[in-house]
Amino acid sequence: MAQGRDVVAAKCFQCHGASMITSEHEDARKWNRITREMQRFSQRIPGKNPISEPERVAATAYLARILGEKDDDDHQEDEREEEEEKEEEAAASDAGDGDQRGRGRGRGRGRRGRGA
Ligand code: HEC
Repeated sequence: MAQGRDVVAAKCFQCHGASMITSEHEDARKWNRITREMQRFSQRIPGKNPISEPERVAATAYLARILGEKDDDDHQEDEREEEEEKEEEAAASDAGDGDQRGRGRGRGRGRRGRGA
């Protein structure tokens, strides 16, 4: 039985390193498409050990399991970004109001002070 991890190590790493693969976070459907293309490459490029269909299926399942969680990561990132934006907005509007009030009062008092 072909193990997905072994297939990736033995067949996928023939042509590129692990980082090429681990930088991709795709769902099973997209991995299916990618591995099919890679299978074609492995069959067409001379001197490569071709990826068989059972190996491709095993690799796809493995990749979707270990590299298919992008949605969750994204979600967490979105939430973090939203919080940061809210904080920045609050800080900006505080600073803006304070500034305007401060400057207005300061200038008013200043001019009146000098005039009198
Ligand atoms: C025969 C050589 C070969 C083998 C074997 C191979 N790849 Fe590739 N792979 C390539 C080439 C060439 C590219 C660049 C293709 C391009 O630029 O469109 C690539 C690109 C990729 C990419 C980048 C995304 C993309 O669509 O361009 C991923 C991810 C990837 N391969 C995963 C795999 C996986 C997973 C396997 C094993 C199932 C595998 N590769 C096996 C040659 C290979």
